[in-house]
Amino acid sequence: MEHFFVTLNGQPRRVGAGQHNTTLLHWIRGFSSGTKEGCAEGDCGACTVAVLEDGHYKAINSCIALLPSLAGLEVWTAEGIAAQGLHPAQTALAAAGGSQCGYCTPGFVMSLFCEYHQPTGDETCFSGNLCRCTGYRPIRDALQSLEPADPTNTFELRKQSAPQKTMLEYSGFSRPTSLVAALQEKAARPKAQFIAGGTDLTLQITTVFKSLPDLISLEAVPELREIAETDEFFEIGAAVPLSNLEQEFRHKIPLFKELFPWFASRQIRHKATLGGNLGTASPIGDAPVVLLALDASLCLSSLDGEREIALKDYFLGYRKTALESNELIRCIRIPKAQRIQKMYKVAKRGYDDISSVMGAFAFQLERGKITSVRLAYGGVAAIPVRAYQTENALLGQPFTRASINAAQEILAQEFQPISDFRASAQYRQKIIINLLEKFFIESVSSRAEVHA
Ligand SMILES: Cc1cc2nc3c(=O)[nH]c(=O)nc-3n(C[C@H](O)[C@H](O)[C@H](O)COP(=O)(O)OP(=O)(O)OC[C@H]3O[C@@H](n4cnc5c(N)ncnc54)[C@H](O)[C@@H]3O)c2cc1C
Ligand code: FES
Ligand code: FES
Repeated sequence: MEHFFVTLNGQPRRVGAGQHNTTLLHWIRGFSSGTKEGCAEGDCGACTVAVLEDGHYKAINSCIALLPSLAGLEVWTAEGIAAQGLHPAQTALAAAGGSQCGYCTPGFVMSLFCEYHQPTGDETCFSGNLCRCTGYRPIRDALQSLEPADPTNTFELRKQSAPQKTMLEYSGFSRPTSLVAALQEKAARPKAQFIAGGTDLTLQITTVFKSLPDLISLEAVPELREIAETDEFFEIGAAVPLSNLEQEFRHKIPLFKELFPWFASRQIRHKATLGGNLGTASPIGDAPVVLLALDASLCLSSLDGEREIALKDYFLGYRKTALESNELIRCIRIPKAQRIQKMYKVAKRGYDDISSVMGAFAFQLERGKITSVRLAYGGVAAIPVRAYQTENALLGQPFTRASINAAQEILAQEFQPISDFRASAQYRQKIIINLLEKFFIESVSSRAEVHA
């Protein structure tokens, strides 16, 4: 097929051949200039648009969304939602004085639009939007002044006829709708790359100016979008968007509840997946650190069958993993266990930033003694790692200040972090130890969590 349709601001538009590396932003700006480009790498939110999919409006960064990934879906921009008079999000922002130069405003409007129609009740709806001149207080005032969505609002009513992602065969970009089909396509086109949310891969186009000649999208493969639960473990499809996991596991996995607000931004989490975070094998990916602390394993599928591998054995070296070229990650298995869990992400700014160092810790205690311990770190070595020597030293010890002090001496020798533009080696070394200190202090001062 050499064409597909994307509905932009209510109007279906035909996309012809040769656009598989075109970003949604670039395409939208061919029709009107209201949606802005700031950074072109998902960091500033000026390009935020709303996508209506599966009955939900999701704010996404149009600068790093490839056009074919929107095939069959509905996209709304700040201009489109004002076609029949200002939307309540726009009225609220104007009334609060939430705009000066206006460059960021279309992006803020669309984040506010999504919050109006999909309320989460927290300010992280703006975690992916930067404003350089207004100051955030009036923008926050606009958010706080929003009334609950009017059920007769046109956009509320549209949610009922929500489009879904379906199969796409387009030159350079296919979107299979079953696991077997995805694996068969990979076998037929061994050089093709899997793409899930594209929040990592697409930067190859927008920041490194490479092309991605052949892509197999995993976004419509149902086996990769499932969440299941047994008595022993949770099983999470590798292509479930992180924002879905944020909702689903808020009360089930304490480390997930802590992780997601600090993982990128709302816009990125609507697209990004665990499969993609593990697929990049970045030493500073956040999810691997948390998953290492949770003793997760991965189910790797190929046409020959499936194998399960412990996450601790998956990372082999810098950006090298045990994934074979004919395999994909189908799911992540997380054992259920009663543990004290905590994570700390140290980055240059809170939201929408990559970690300098990240630590995730999980302990089990019985009668005050440590019966199980996982200390996982990111940003301290070529791969996300566990501090095995320190774990061994803590195992069987009482959960006391003396044990932690002794462990910190071992921890100080366990890694040789590097200096880079995010942090110096000395700073990282200090953080590694201090995070364990923080964990201990917070755990003993919160008895409820110690016994959780
Ligand atoms: C502004 C911004 C902020 C970010 N902040 C963070 C952050 O705070 N923490 C963090 O960890 N990351 C962050 N990232 C990086 C990125 O968002 C994550 O790595 C994300 O989880 C990638 O998921 P994805 O689905 O978008 O991956 P994609 O870009 O689709 O894919 C990434 C890689 O994984 C492979 N892949 C995808 N799915 C599978 C699968 N099922 N099996 C095998 N291989 C697969 C792809 O082939 C590709 O090589 C940020 C990125 C941006 C642009
Ligand atoms: S242009 Fe900055 S996030 Fe898209
Ligand atoms: S109003 Fe100028 S950058 Fe936000």
